[in-house]
Amino acid sequence: MGNCFVSKMGNSNPSISDRSITTGPSTAGTSNNYNNGGGYSATSSSEGTCCDGEIWPTPTLKIYSFADLKKSTANFKSDSVLGRGVFGTVYRGWVDKKTLMPCQFGTGMIVAIKKFDLESMQTYTEWESEVNILGRLSHPNLVKLLGYCWEYTERLLVYEFMQKGSLADHLFRENPAIEPLSWDIRLKIAIGAARGLAFLHTSEKQIIHRNFKASNILLDVNYNPKISNFSLAQLGPSGGNSHVTTQVVGTYGYAAPEYVATGHLYVKSDVYSFGVVLLEILSLLRVLDLSRPSGQHNLIDWARPLLSHRRKWETIMDARIEGQYSSQAALQAANLSLRCLEHDPRKRPSMKEVVEVLEQIETMKKEP
Ligand SMILES: Nc1ncnc2c1ncn2[C@@H]1O[C@H](COP(=O)(O)OP(=O)(O)OP(=O)(O)O)[C@@H](O)[C@H]1O
Ligand SMILES: [Mg+2]
Repeated sequence: MGNCFVSKMGNSNPSISDRSITTGPSTAGTSNNYNNGGGYSATSSSEGTCCDGEIWPTPTLKIYSFADLKKSTANFKSDSVLGRGVFGTVYRGWVDKKTLMPCQFGTGMIVAIKKFDLESMQTYTEWESEVNILGRLSHPNLVKLLGYCWEYTERLLVYEFMQKGSLADHLFRENPAIEPLSWDIRLKIAIGAARGLAFLHTSEKQIIHRNFKASNILLDVNYNPKISNFSLAQLGPSGGNSHVTTQVVGTYGYAAPEYVATGHLYVKSDVYSFGVVLLEILSLLRVLDLSRPSGQHNLIDWARPLLSHRRKWETIMDARIEGQYSSQAALQAANLSLRCLEHDPRKRPSMKEVVEVLEQIETMKKEP
């Protein structure tokens, strides 16, 4: 789940988030469709494959009753738990493939159902953001939100089910007997995730994810990546200016240094987080790991000087996939992560450029 944090900044400037709730509570015992505006509104800039998505004016989601989701998960059975995060528990549930109506457990199509732990008002806000932001987005590299339940004090979300779980599950699994992800698959995941972020950043609303990390990249049966968790997402500032947020939130290790230190949030703050994930993909090492020798606890601090060294950069690469890639391709990927991790956000590439570089790396075949 990572080390999510919330810290108050001393700054008095309010954040410019668009958190107005456009949904309404379910009527107990009924399922419904919610579509207030109808039709498409702004699509993002359509340059390149990264921006092949749409933004709806309002969320278009199925409304479930709590009883529906109880039935669909066999009363939130403990063996249907898919995982636990900061905001709640994710269960496996079942719905009808066509109507998305809840089914008996074990029949129809599997979905992932997140039940929020409503211990604080903060969690209500996270739930609303997910509905109001993710509920309006459609892109091949963003997880699809199918519906929600808002009944009395219960808040749940229903997502498409991602068969292969999260990227973190694959990168950091304990069992050394399991084959690590191949170079080709790692590159495919990096490209897809970069396209998802590029879509968010280049869309008319300039959405900043704010919690991009390996556990928030979910994988389908063919390892196609989709970005999840929009609870902390914000609409970006225009003209390259930053937000100043009064509350700094995110995950230690992945959050950009300028954001953690000052509360200044840029579109390029997500680019930093992407650089961290790219380095984790290349090295198969967690960004923060206190079990590593001292001096290596933080992957970024440890790797930065190595990555810029002509002969030492390769020491950071995961030895288990050695021989699967050309050294030119690996060097370019390592350099790209270094650029994303620049201290100065203005020096980081845009996600559109990141996509282009990764696509070019993908064409580099291994030397015979
Ligand atoms: N749509 C989904 N399909 C399949 N598995 C999922 C889905 N969503 C979440 N999961 C599983 O549930 C786990 C918990 O997800 P969740 O997003 O709640 O927490 P997290 O990503 O680990 O941490 P955070 O709360 O900081 O995002 C994920 O790691 C993943 O294994
Ligand atoms: Mg998550």
